[in-house]
Amino acid sequence: MCGIVGYVGPQNARDVVLEGLRRLEYRGYDSAGVAVLTGEGMATAKRAGKLANLEKVLAEQPLPEATIGIGHTRWATHGGPTDRNAHPHLSADGSVAVIHNGIIENFAALRGECEAAGVEFASETDTEVVAHLLAAEYTRTPEGPGRLAEAMRAVSRRLEGAFTLVASHVAEPDTLVASRRNSPLVVGVGDGEYFLGSDVAAFIAHTREARELGQDQVVEIDRQRGLTVTDFAGTPVEPKAFTVDWDAEAAEKGGHDWFMLKEIAEQPQAIADTLLGRLGDDGELVLDEVRLSDQELRDIDKIFVVSCGTSFHAGLIAKYAIEHWTRIPVEVEVASEFRYRDPVLDRSTLVVVISQSGETMDTLMALRHAKDQKARVLAICNVNGSTIPRESDAVLYTHAGPEIAVASTKSFLAQIVACYLVGLFLAQVRGVKYVDEVAAIVDELRQLPDAVARVLTQMEPVRELGRSLADAGTILFLGRHVGFPVALEGALKLKELAYIHAEGFAAGELKHGPIAVIDEGTPVVVVVPSPRGRSVLHSKVVSNIQEVRARGARTIVIAEEGDEAVVPYADHLIRVPRTSTLLTPVVTTVPLQILACEIADTRGFDVDQPRNLAKSVTVE
Ligand code: G6P
Repeated sequence: MCGIVGYVGPQNARDVVLEGLRRLEYRGYDSAGVAVLTGEGMATAKRAGKLANLEKVLAEQPLPEATIGIGHTRWATHGGPTDRNAHPHLSADGSVAVIHNGIIENFAALRGECEAAGVEFASETDTEVVAHLLAAEYTRTPEGPGRLAEAMRAVSRRLEGAFTLVASHVAEPDTLVASRRNSPLVVGVGDGEYFLGSDVAAFIAHTREARELGQDQVVEIDRQRGLTVTDFAGTPVEPKAFTVDWDAEAAEKGGHDWFMLKEIAEQPQAIADTLLGRLGDDGELVLDEVRLSDQELRDIDKIFVVSCGTSFHAGLIAKYAIEHWTRIPVEVEVASEFRYRDPVLDRSTLVVVISQSGETMDTLMALRHAKDQKARVLAICNVNGSTIPRESDAVLYTHAGPEIAVASTKSFLAQIVACYLVGLFLAQVRGVKYVDEVAAIVDELRQLPDAVARVLTQMEPVRELGRSLADAGTILFLGRHVGFPVALEGALKLKELAYIHAEGFAAGELKHGPIAVIDEGTPVVVVVPSPRGRSVLHSKVVSNIQEVRARGARTIVIAEEGDEAVVPYADHLIRVPRTSTLLTPVVTTVPLQILACEIADTRGFDVDQPRNLAKSVTVE
């Protein structure tokens, strides 16, 4: 959703903040803005649109050198993406500048209160109310060190909803304060300098030493007094220190045209890193981070997998694997629906929440609902120290590294692999699979990085195909078994990136209605299961290809090397290496990512920052 940056230290704040915004732009790009504080007062600049628009303005009219600065990149909620609604927002007297990520749910009442007191609002945002409240509260707060933080605590206690707020006051040119509830904020600690960021990408070029902030906490960073964290009541809190294991280079494009292409290329590494240290020499899985006792794992009688977007598709794949390996029933649900239908949960339910960012509000709310109902919650997450793993009973990190492109790729494959690990671990602990059976699958998992690397070397024909599909009106994706979620993911990627209508279907379901949309030349992508093992499944999908072809479809077939049965029915054939059925999504997804990327690029769109989207959506 929005990206937030703050800086206090000897460097020129304007440059540090702009650089941080560049690294956080994937969180939202409806507008960008910066405020710096000098002895002379506050100076701000903001512009609708991408950060480049703001940079252009700043190149012509640079902000003064300063040692305190805040910056914001926005994904609009309240108020359209205009200059006026861009952050930072100032109080009416110009004393306070505020940036915000989240939604202040009681803002209408608070705005009414400010207006009744004679305040005129300059924007339509919910955020502006905080600037006015904070300015008023400051005047009521006794003078002395920590005055702005005290005012921030008083205001925060009155706010409902989700917020990360960062504020500065003209009377305190050495201080920044920030507050958080339900939205992310991390502090970077450098040598005589401090950073605030929605995530660590904002400051990894400067420091890897970081502090996690808990729920309902206020942090003050002051050039003299350093870092102070309290809860909203003012009780001091010791923030948890952690060291960031990503390096700044990981958040650069590294010679690729798009972050997404770089991240697709990093997939073998993302899988290998996610497996690293988790596979014992004897074939046993070692998941020490799963802080659930063997007894708790044995008591589980039902599993829910809950997530959003691409992470939801990882959950759908998890169902096939976990049920097959453990015989525990698994339900998969989008997080935004989960808690509203009163799911049946109790102590023996395991809820697996999957989130790349660890900040998605729908998923976080589902997690909290599950915990309220006494279920055990295991998070699969890519961002260390983010809210979702912090609030879960157990966590399994995917080690995909920073993912900057808004559309998820390498973290998706890492999530699938993490789900396999969870399934196999449960099977191992519960004794439903013999050690050698687990070891055999573990062995196959170890082959996956090479298999994906091989797919990546064979992608030129897929790119060529993508260029020829740039004018397609609609593209359908079909799959069965684990190929079905892959079809859904292929369609989602295409919609997200290329803005082409696309739908994924269970291949067998097509004949019950959707087949009516197939016309002469409609491109239909079919993910074909392996002919080995479940050959019935394979022959059914081959029949489905023939059905769509008979109605004029242009068939694009993704099939395993050596599968000759599909050849007569494929207008385009994309080969992937052999893997066992449950593991195939890791290889079959890759060509679909490349296809969507190439189509979007050919159509002239920004592959990394598609319209209307944000990487991490911190509103419900
Ligand atoms: C947003 C992104 C998607 C992502 C989804 C879930 O909608 O645009 O790419 O899959 O959020 O994000 P998460 O961080 O929870 O995996």
